[in-house]
Amino acid sequence: MNDPTAIYPGTFDPVTYGHIDVVRRAAAMFPRVTVLVARNPTKAPLFSAEERMAMVRGVFRSQRRVSVDCFDGLLVEYARAHNATVLVRGLRAVSDFEYEFQMALTNRKLARSIDTVFLVPDEKYTYLNSSIVREVARLGGDVSGFVPPAVRRRLQARVNKKGDRT
Ligand code: COA
Repeated sequence: MNDPTAIYPGTFDPVTYGHIDVVRRAAAMFPRVTVLVARNPTKAPLFSAEERMAMVRGVFRSQRRVSVDCFDGLLVEYARAHNATVLVRGLRAVSDFEYEFQMALTNRKLARSIDTVFLVPDEKYTYLNSSIVREVARLGGDVSGFVPPAVRRRLQARVNKKGDRT
């Protein structure tokens, strides 16, 4: 491999300890990892792409190998434009497999030189996703086991603000 940058794409609305675990594993394998925040308007994210990027940046501030960017459009086009040949995705459980397999093969069909590497996060995080974290926060539950303190504060502020408007 020729000093490849690995791209870890996702919506990260918000970033959780599960994502962070995957980034740390990727950073141990690749010289550079870009956490790539998809604007993803179809998911109607709670946080803007800029806010999601800022939260990820805050987490990896001290890690020189990890950078953060955002994109709109086709993932493989971003990868090509940035000379990246590796996409990283986390596989939490068998239920992730079919969709991830489909995405990996679609991306390969679109760009043969780009490969997907699957990393398995720590089993403590296999049940986590961002929707669950948002829901627990919205209902006043404690999310400190799911997200870092800075993300928890932003999440609580956002759901409280939304609650005020309803
Ligand atoms: N820990 C915690 N949660 C995790 C996780 C982990 N290790 N791995 C995945 N998740 C969560 C995510 O937070 C997300 O939660 P949510 O649905 O509650 O938001 C969910 O599991 C996975 O959602 P998914 O839709 O699979 O991925 P994503 O939203 O994170 O990212 C993109 C999907 C952006 C990578 C994909 O849609 C994409 O590439 N879009 C660009 C368009 C494109 O190129 N399309 C062709 C590719 S087929």
